[in-house]
Amino acid sequence: MPPTAEDRRDRAEEPLRREVVSFTRRGGRLTERLQGAWDDLAERFVVDIPRGRTSTSVAEGFTLDPATLFGREAPLILEIGSGRGESLVHAARENPDTDFIGLEVYVPGIAQTLLSMRHHGVENIRLIIVDAVPALSRMLPAECLDELRIWFPDPWHKTRHHKRRLVSDEFVPVARRALKPGGVWRMATDWQDYADQMLDVVGRAEGFTTSGDWAERFPGRPVTRFEAKGLAVGRAIRDVDAIKMSA
Ligand SMILES: C[S@@+](CC[C@H](N)C(=O)[O-])C[C@H]1O[C@@H](n2cnc3c(N)ncnc32)[C@H](O)[C@@H]1O
Repeated sequence: MPPTAEDRRDRAEEPLRREVVSFTRRGGRLTERLQGAWDDLAERFVVDIPRGRTSTSVAEGFTLDPATLFGREAPLILEIGSGRGESLVHAARENPDTDFIGLEVYVPGIAQTLLSMRHHGVENIRLIIVDAVPALSRMLPAECLDELRIWFPDPWHKTRHHKRRLVSDEFVPVARRALKPGGVWRMATDWQDYADQMLDVVGRAEGFTTSGDWAERFPGRPVTRFEAKGLAVGRAIRDVDAIKMSA
């Protein structure tokens, strides 16, 4: 897809970025159908936040209160990289008394999620176009999440790109800050090498407890396109989870 004006701006700003991010911006124009869903629903379900230097950043000092966002107090589950919303919408339908936040930088994915929310009449989701790291490090309140989910994160399979993987030792304090004591951090991937890394990361993560082995496949996750692609080429799907301990 040709780069959008936003992509070009992000790239131009790249030298100003201090840290390596776990994504590349993709996108382009929305199809008519997706644009229609966006026009009808974004104002209500896509949270508009003030930005710092880039279009996926969060302005310094800006905070978001989930209870205000949803207009109620309810258990809160957040998915990083919610993609087209397959898992998120499924989970929100199955759990109407729980609130769900999807963080995603891929705008067509967000628009597709809106379309799916409308199709299924789902309203307990809010979507934010943002890099999850600043969002969880300082935008959302500490210890606000009952669950943190990362399904099929970009594998960055070349060794020289491993530093871009989201699930790393550096991410542990971010997850620890965001989760309530007793909160669950769930992940899944079809890349064995990344699965091994996830297991190592949670195995030595301060403040978390884990079985030290693969978790059972999480029953609340439908088979998404990414999972199906992995299965189609014979890759094993690995689930990894950890629980944040009480202090
Ligand atoms: C491989 S896709 C998987 C999508 C979805 N979880 C699924 O299973 O279908 C990974 C997604 O994570 C998003 N992503 C990667 N790093 C992110 C970050 N730091 N913050 C928010 N989204 C991110 C990407 O834009 C991409 O859509």
